Amino acid sequence: MYEFRGATLQNAVHQALRYRALSTKKLAKVAAKFDFTARMRMGSVLFVGEGNLSFALTMSREPRVPASLILATVYEAEEDLTDTGYDNARKLLKLGSSVKTGVDATQLSDTIGKRQFHTIIFQFPNVASRDPSYEQNPNHVLVTRFLKNARNYLKPGGLVVISTVDNPFYEGAFKMDEAARKAGFAAPDIYTFDPKDYPGYTHQNTANEESAADGHTAFATFVFSG
Ligand SMILES: C[S@@+](CC[C@H](N)C(=O)[O-])C[C@H]1O[C@@H](n2cnc3c(N)ncnc32)[C@H](O)[C@@H]1O
Repeated sequence: MYEFRGATLQNAVHQALRYRALSTKKLAKVAAKFDFTARMRMGSVLFVGEGNLSFALTMSREPRVPASLILATVYEAEEDLTDTGYDNARKLLKLGSSVKTGVDATQLSDTIGKRQFHTIIFQFPNVASRDPSYEQNPNHVLVTRFLKNARNYLKPGGLVVISTVDNPFYEGAFKMDEAARKAGFAAPDIYTFDPKDYPGYTHQNTANEESAADGHTAFATFVFSG
């Protein structure tokens, strides 16, 4: 067996392949985008934490996406919907989608019943608080609890999809790999997300109508498979 810096040639080849796999995954984050439309054409979709419902509405309007298989939900009570949110809810209903208010993504059993979905999507989760919860960042607690809940609402082969700002501060806040592990998912695949690809999507910040995307240029979509 040949030696290569202390390792056998076979080990060196294995190591090289491993590094190539790692760098491919990293490249996938910057180069590839998750195809929301293709995924939504495959079956039922639950949106949670939709804010003003503009992402769910944009996606429901995509050709060959079965709008009737979409359940779009917001955390807020109906009376707290913004005018835009209310208007978008009416448009979704007109398309044949379902809309539900007062849905807590960490307590889906309270409002969703026993339905299961091909895909569950939470765009830009944010609890609007920096107070630690169980000595953890509250956004890490939110996504961990959401993932634990969502597991029970996935059909076989189902995916959970979460988009966030892509920078070290947000990565530190969410700690997606750790959240996945705690909820029993493998580490997520990571894609690039560009809100500009969805012209009808007017990203809403938690607790007001400004854009949470303001001031940020990089976004990521995390895809968790059971
Ligand atoms: C930054 S906003 C994003 C809203 C929308 N998804 C978008 O992309 O424009 C964060 C959203 O998370 C929601 N949220 C916070 N805690 C939640 C929970 N426990 N369950 C469901 N939604 C929650 C808020 O109500 C808010 O609408």
